[in-house]
Amino acid sequence: HKVELELEAIEKGGFDHFMLKEIFEQPRSIADSMRGRVKAEEGTLQLGGLRDYLDKLAKSKRIVIIGCGTSWHAGLVAEYIFEELARIPVEVEYASEFRYRNPIIKEGDIVIAISQSGETADTLAAIELAKSKGAIIFGVCNVVGSSIARATHAGAFTHAGPEIGVASTKAFTAQVTVLTLMALAAAHRKGTLSESLFRQLLTELESIPAKVEQVLQAADKIKEIAYIFTYARNFIYLGRGLNFPVALEGALKLKEISYIHAEGYPAAEMKHGPIALIDEDMPVVVIATQDSSYEKVVSNIQEVKARKGRVIAVVTEGDTHLPGMVDFTIEIPRVHDILMPLVSVVPLQLLSYYIAVMRGRNVDQPRNLAKSVTVE
Ligand code: G6P
Repeated sequence: HKVELELEAIEKGGFDHFMLKEIFEQPRSIADSMRGRVKAEEGTLQLGGLRDYLDKLAKSKRIVIIGCGTSWHAGLVAEYIFEELARIPVEVEYASEFRYRNPIIKEGDIVIAISQSGETADTLAAIELAKSKGAIIFGVCNVVGSSIARATHAGAFTHAGPEIGVASTKAFTAQVTVLTLMALAAAHRKGTLSESLFRQLLTELESIPAKVEQVLQAADKIKEIAYIFTYARNFIYLGRGLNFPVALEGALKLKEISYIHAEGYPAAEMKHGPIALIDEDMPVVVIATQDSSYEKVVSNIQEVKARKGRVIAVVTEGDTHLPGMVDFTIEIPRVHDILMPLVSVVPLQLLSYYIAVMRGRNVDQPRNLAKSVTVE
């Protein structure tokens, strides 16, 4: 038993939990997911596993993305990116819903299945159904040789390395990285993306690992904020645009490991329900980075403050406006709008981690949850 414990300590690489280790691995796992694929200096992007199917992806009239849990959230991020860059309509579906609602799939439709483990039963069944209707299946998996990876026609692996913590962290950012590359490749081939924006995004992608590293340096500050909110009973997470799925993911992380009830919402939708919950006991995490929806998010924050909600805002470094308006700020570096989720999700992972630790939860193996759900 002692040997086992020592072995585990070695595997954790000096971190208290696998989850924390995996959060801190993200600069590397994001870089690994781009390695050999992105060459910003040469202005090239190559995805070997897509080569024979890239034309079909670029010419597709519709893309359906399926996944479960965190992988589904990565799909929501991809929806924004594919539509914005490649101008292809995208639908994102829970695999468990897709498989039971007689989905409309035509010969040649594209289905992108996202799965860290590659073994999720609902996702696998959804793939088989789509395949039987003539869809071309692209996979975004982390585990090579997994059932889902083998069931797809084409795809690109995430190179996040083994993820042990049940709450997914580095697999999410690796999925978003790879899906972004797929969207960029499709948009470039299709001609909906200018050469200069293509090159700019490749360059910006290469700077993401260093920016994530910078966010990780704020871990101690995030820990202090977590301490203040350890005994909160509810949380609301708000974001707009690409940061809306990040809000969902932040809320999911908190639920999974701390057992605090949390809801993610598109910030503007708050007025249609969740605003009724806001009082001085309600912490509201708002992703309020300086992107195209900044002004709108600022007014959403004002609505929360007017009802005495306590706001923790994720802001762009150098923002001088929000610190005076909200209770706490967490700064992240400036990033191109399209790539924002890769950076903005990191402080939310850390926040949920520290809250769960302070509540004495089993962070790596939360109750009732499994790393890979191979039954329906
Ligand atoms: C489980 C895990 C989640 C994961 C989901 C989908 O619920 O606890 O972390 O996001 O399954 O798993 P997959 O391996 O298909 O990405």
